[in-house]
Amino acid sequence: MRTIEELDAAVASTAKRHNTWGARRIARALGEGRGRVHRALRRLGLVGRPTAASPTTPPPTPAEAESAAMRRDEAAALRARNRYLREQLRDANRALRDARSIDRGAYRIEYRGAPSRRDEVRVMAGDIHGYYMDRSAVGAFLGDMRVLQPDVVVLFGDLLDCGGFLAQHQVWGYVAEGDYTFEQDVAAVTHFLDELRAACPSARIVYLEGNHEHRLEKWCMTQALRQSEDARFLLDRVGAPSVLQLDDRGIEWRAQGEYHDGCSVRGTIRLGPADVPVYVTHGFTACKHAAAKHVERFAANVVFGHTHRDDSYTINTVSQPLLGGWCPGCLSQRVRLWNHNQPDNWTHGYALQVATRTGRFQHTQVKLVDGESLLLPLINGDGGDDA
Ligand SMILES: [Fe+2]
Ligand SMILES: [Fe+2]
Repeated sequence: MRTIEELDAAVASTAKRHNTWGARRIARALGEGRGRVHRALRRLGLVGRPTAASPTTPPPTPAEAESAAMRRDEAAALRARNRYLREQLRDANRALRDARSIDRGAYRIEYRGAPSRRDEVRVMAGDIHGYYMDRSAVGAFLGDMRVLQPDVVVLFGDLLDCGGFLAQHQVWGYVAEGDYTFEQDVAAVTHFLDELRAACPSARIVYLEGNHEHRLEKWCMTQALRQSEDARFLLDRVGAPSVLQLDDRGIEWRAQGEYHDGCSVRGTIRLGPADVPVYVTHGFTACKHAAAKHVERFAANVVFGHTHRDDSYTINTVSQPLLGGWCPGCLSQRVRLWNHNQPDNWTHGYALQVATRTGRFQHTQVKLVDGESLLLPLINGDGGDDA
């Protein structure tokens, strides 16, 4: 029997001669047991991992040993990192499974889309004051009307200024009440009405009498020495519906002294269905909290003018979910001569309401600043010049 050294040498030369590391074939060629040949091959490092006793595998140098130790440490660290990541993945999967099993019904939020079709677009504006209209504010208003194409426009009075001789009931002051003629006053409003009709040709336009147009009735009554038939005769000729030819322009007139739409107060009209009414009136007070005062007295939604300043007040009541009173401001020049010593708090604007089929509506106070509508950038989506 060959010694281990003889066997290793014989196996190495046979493997080289036959160009094989197959233990079975080398064992047959040498007449040795396959187990001894296999162990010799392992010692020679020709199969498997070389054994420490293999004479062909020199012991590692200190540097090689250190490098091998570092690689072993890195491999161990990598295995530990992989184990950690697998645990993390398991936790995430478990959390995802839990999240998917939550009863979503308990947290469901119903999203309601916007009405697919508008039912009614309403516009309320007024207090133009004829000759003293603010042309840039009126221009912005008319521009919006071209875009909005409202179904109904309610002009809530004081379109005519009726200064001069028609203001003779006013206390005499040191400045003139008006420095224009009645003809110029009428011409200014006539022009406005024509422009409004051209801007929204299919709109229903309703004109409420304001306290300034009412001066015409007072003047007629004074001239007729309170003879009512003579006063009526005069009024039919110089009243606002006549001088402004409202019938010819297809504009509905609502006098201050008459009842309309079943309202219990004169000079007021009602829009919308009976269960969600919106009253429009010229306004019965210009006090500091006029909007609150109007809501209090009407106990309903109400839009009014007369104060010339942007004002709104909303309230929930026991019987009504939400009631509002709004004055959108005016379209007249803001600083009048007779008002010259008071800080100005008048604002330019108009009211816009979009009502659904149920009568519920969105009310918007559209501001007109320096002759510019702040609504159109929203509608057009162009973000204005600053965008
Ligand atoms: Fe006014
Ligand atoms: Fe007024």
